[in-house]
Amino acid sequence: GKGGYDHYMLKEIHEQPAALRQTLRGRADPATGDIHLEDFPAGAFEDVDRVQFVACGTSYHAGLVGAQFLSDGGVPAQAFLASEYATAQPPVDEETLVIGVTQSGETADTLSALRRANASGARTLAVTNVVGSTAARECDDALFIRAGPEIGVAATKTFSSQVVSLALLGERIVRDVTGGRTDDARERLQALSDLPGHVQQILDYTSARRVAENYRDSEAYFFIGRGAVRPVALEGALKFKEISYEHAEGFAAGELKHGPLALVTPETPVFAVFTGRNDEKTLGNVKEAEARGAPVVAVASDGQESVHQYADEVLTIPDTHPDVAGVLANVQLQLLSYHAADLLDRAIDKPRNLAKSVTVE
Ligand code: M6R
Repeated sequence: GKGGYDHYMLKEIHEQPAALRQTLRGRADPATGDIHLEDFPAGAFEDVDRVQFVACGTSYHAGLVGAQFLSDGGVPAQAFLASEYATAQPPVDEETLVIGVTQSGETADTLSALRRANASGARTLAVTNVVGSTAARECDDALFIRAGPEIGVAATKTFSSQVVSLALLGERIVRDVTGGRTDDARERLQALSDLPGHVQQILDYTSARRVAENYRDSEAYFFIGRGAVRPVALEGALKFKEISYEHAEGFAAGELKHGPLALVTPETPVFAVFTGRNDEKTLGNVKEAEARGAPVVAVASDGQESVHQYADEVLTIPDTHPDVAGVLANVQLQLLSYHAADLLDRAIDKPRNLAKSVTVE
């Protein structure tokens, strides 16, 4: 059952500290910088020379984060929408690792992209929550995210566990391909290990319901972020539209001025995600929105004073490594969407027109 919560979604949001502990269990040692990933000992990826992610929806956003981890570490990587990949596949060879990110392991678009990659000779790997799923069975390898069952149609805890799994997998791949340990590996592993506690702090102290109430009659909701948190802006908007049925869009912060700014008015709050890296640039984009009268809600840590100065509201996240901050920011945005939808009395666990597992292309 829902364990005392009004919806599975809220229960699953609150399960994140426990789910993340399961995802991390035995896999990362911040003291030594070591990583232990079941089927993937050191050297497992030494033949890989580039990585392609294929996925849909929320899992695609996790794939975008995964590609960023690899690129930052010097491994060529790109994320593709599975439905597009199945239509126009980029070149692959035996040195290409194609990673399908899929919570259910049954999404038709993702399976179709993986089959296509496999037929072209690429090595395939499923990152999934479901042991025995089609993706896990059909791929050459599988890494399980261990988030536990997710009932709500909106993916919440599985996104967090996907990103953490891809951070660990990314670390392993970068070490194998580039022959070295990544610069700040220990700091990053420490930040990952701190995530369960940090997420708990957000759950205990969030002001997401008050913020959702403040902006409940808005015309549209915009989400912006750059670099590692552009996918978080996209995910924030996807979750928001999926369960509230309100118009929401996510943009790369720097793209606002290339078109979307025409939509920005005092009736369109802008949610801006900050990580402690490249914040000045995003702050510049926030000022562009503010100049058009838009209310600004920042997702940022307490220490980011210049951000606080420009924001009408702040959804606070604990201070952490910039690569990991996005997971925390996303939890605040999950809560924002949940409360916005709850205030509108939506069918949160089973939004109209949508299914948990999409088995048609
Ligand atoms: O099971 P999958 O991860 O392959 O599902 C992919 C998408 O259908 C899924 O993430 C969808 O976008 C969610 N309902 C979003 O909350």
